[in-house]
Amino acid sequence: MPDAASPSDVTYRRSSAEDAEVVFELTAAAVAPLAPDPYPTEVVETWMTGRTAETYRKDCASGTLWIAEADGRAAGYCHAVPGEVIRLFVAPLFGGKGIGRNLMVRALADARAGWRGPIRIDATLNAVSFYRQWGFVVRAEGIFPGRPRHVPDIAVKIMELNAALDPWRGGSAQGA
Ligand SMILES: CC(C)(COP(=O)(O)OP(=O)(O)OC[C@H]1O[C@@H](n2cnc3c(N)ncnc32)[C@H](O)[C@@H]1OP(=O)(O)O)[C@@H](O)C(=O)NCCC(=O)NCCS
Repeated sequence: MPDAASPSDVTYRRSSAEDAEVVFELTAAAVAPLAPDPYPTEVVETWMTGRTAETYRKDCASGTLWIAEADGRAAGYCHAVPGEVIRLFVAPLFGGKGIGRNLMVRALADARAGWRGPIRIDATLNAVSFYRQWGFVVRAEGIFPGRPRHVPDIAVKIMELNAALDPWRGGSAQGA
């Protein structure tokens, strides 16, 4: 019987409206281990405050997310639009198995579609070194926008993929 530690079959598919609950749950699961390092407990405990599955419904319905399924179980997702990788989350149970990498390949393809400028990502602090592997560099400090007023900010690093370092354009960064 397949188990989460070594899924035998990981598939990637486009999202539909019905994935909103799964995306909400995956996001909550992926951020839970981020306290106390690199985020304070009060930040992680309120990460999902103000969000519900409905927050993700419209984007899911547009079919622009990629959903990763490991042996039929939701394992992660990503969302990108031309010029920006917006979200990339892998559930801890399925971390370290290459799912983040495979989602990133798809997210970058979507971020590049019809776009010739730099690609941006607002990276959580834990993921900065992950994105560096893909040629992204830190451009500025920031916070996630749109948080409710009564909860603490979520600090991020605003990263950018410079076309000159883009491995798909002849640069030397790793990650492909
Ligand atoms: C960051 C994240 C997407 C990585 O997903 P994953 O499926 O565990 O990553 P993979 O197994 O595909 O790893 C691919 C490579 O990146 C490396 N890597 C994974 N996470 C890393 C991290 N946080 N920092 C540096 N390298 C990392 C792996 O060691 C692997 O390296 P290798 O090619 O030399 O073997 C996942 O840990 C996650 O969802 N974290 C919480 C949510 C989050 O921070 N998302 C980003 C929001 S901007």
